[in-house]
Amino acid sequence: MNIILKTVSKQDHKFLYDLLKERNEKINISHKKMPTFKNHEKFVMSKPYKKWYIIMNEKEKVGSIYLSKFNEIGIFLKKNIRGQGIGQKSLEMIVEKNPEKRYLANINPQNHKSIKFFKNNNFKIIQYTYELIKNK
Ligand SMILES: CC(C)(COP(=O)(O)OP(=O)(O)OC[C@H]1O[C@@H](n2cnc3c(N)ncnc32)[C@H](O)[C@@H]1OP(=O)(O)O)[C@@H](O)C(=O)NCCC(=O)NCCS
Repeated sequence: MNIILKTVSKQDHKFLYDLLKERNEKINISHKKMPTFKNHEKFVMSKPYKKWYIIMNEKEKVGSIYLSKFNEIGIFLKKNIRGQGIGQKSLEMIVEKNPEKRYLANINPQNHKSIKFFKNNNFKIIQYTYELIKNK
């Protein structure tokens, strides 16, 4: 395993779009529906996060990790390479590259694997957030 975090560039739009397609509703808090490729590109180019990286293993793109303006960490790995410690390594690397006092992770309560992952990596639960959706 040789993990590198590479800043997202225009060449990564297609990879990030394909990665987004692997998401299901359990994982997803912010994206309920798949955007069009054009809208996806617009989103990536709008610099939505403070830092956004492609996770590379042995020169292969295997996932993506970001740090938001509020120091929230989001991570998503391709299915076939999960459970090998790549997530943990990437988490350590983003923290090392971006020293902050405090980091957050927003996780869907149904996403048990991810809850376990963040707990294993010393994150502590601080709140439950509820939402009310109104169809106008
Ligand atoms: C959550 C996620 C990032 C975790 O990444 P990961 O690389 O699979 O996690 P790790 O491999 O570091 O750890 C997961 C498990 O693999 C185990 N593991 C670690 N190194 C390993 C190795 N070399 N070989 C085998 N297993 C290993 C860990 O012990 C852990 O096992 P456990 O669940 O039984 O405790 C990844 O599963 C993912 O992308 N999920 C979908 C997106 C998502 O839910 N994101 C969270 C919202 S931000």
